[in-house]
Amino acid sequence: MTAAASLWADKEKLILEASSLPELTHLEHELFGRKGGLMTVALAELKKLPPAKMKAAAQELNEWKTKLADLIDQRRKALAVPSNAQLKDADRIDPTLELPKREQGHLHLIPEFIRQVEEVFGRMGFDVARGPEVETEEYNFNLLNIPPTHPARDAQDTFWVKTAGEEKKVLRTHTSPVQIRYMRTHKPPFRAIFPGKVYRKDADATHSPMFHQFEGLMVGKDISLANMKAVMITAIRSLISPKAEFRFRTGFFPFVEPGLEVDMRWQGNDEQSREGKWLEIVGCGMVHPQVLRNGGVDPAKWQGFAFGFGIERMIMIKHQIPDLRSFFEGDLRFLRQF
Ligand code: PHE
Repeated sequence: MTAAASLWADKEKLILEASSLPELTHLEHELFGRKGGLMTVALAELKKLPPAKMKAAAQELNEWKTKLADLIDQRRKALAVPSNAQLKDADRIDPTLELPKREQGHLHLIPEFIRQVEEVFGRMGFDVARGPEVETEEYNFNLLNIPPTHPARDAQDTFWVKTAGEEKKVLRTHTSPVQIRYMRTHKPPFRAIFPGKVYRKDADATHSPMFHQFEGLMVGKDISLANMKAVMITAIRSLISPKAEFRFRTGFFPFVEPGLEVDMRWQGNDEQSREGKWLEIVGCGMVHPQVLRNGGVDPAKWQGFAFGFGIERMIMIKHQIPDLRSFFEGDLRFLRQF
């Protein structure tokens, strides 16, 4: 090995052994510094050699130059990753330490329950759809057999909204208008649920001016009241409790014929609510032929049932919550219990 070659071989060794970035930078300067760098100088001195020797020397020197520059690059990358020894001191993880407790939030009871509803009905083949909360008088009342003079409006004569157009609008008082919207946009047979907010001029332990319902609609060639009861019972047992105590009784809604209501056993007392020992949680029935017609469905060919569950009331029974207003007060002591 020539003297020059052994010099470059020495430097190569030093680069490979460099144990820190400053050490490497120092070597780089020593070799490639613009003024006085060993390689810089050696390259400049090639000119002084006789032409016969110059070519071979230049080739050898250039090979060393590329090799050493590459090695410096590689070593720099390797040194940028901290070594185990460095890690041990700086970023050591002690697995025996207890993790700090993280505050973890969760869904409010109502959206959480709606997800369960969608899941339970999804298993029974029901689609999920939604309708507007500011609804026209036509959809909320007229098309459901509740004309302006009908006494059924009294109970739901609520929040009218001023509009620029001719059409009267109201904060929907139930999710039933979505029945018509769904029928007008889908071809039977179908089954779907429509969850959402509804509004009424009501306020006590079991009533709130804003609450949640989910409507259901199932239409087919030979859907009967027995099918409806089966769906109601499955829903109540899976959403509230397999041991839930409930009763069906007849009820009147202008958009079904016949109509039923389901009550559930309830701990609230007469002082707290007007309902006493039973709480009505759902109205249901066979869809009235005129309502089918209003939805563009021929009642001579199709029949079906509809239902409307009160969501807060179901949750009240499930968790034995005495006052419906607790849902909307935002009190963390209440919300954290679930
Ligand atoms: N819309 C009714 C209510 O709000 C419930 C209902 C829905 C009844 C569907 C029958 C059929 O009380």
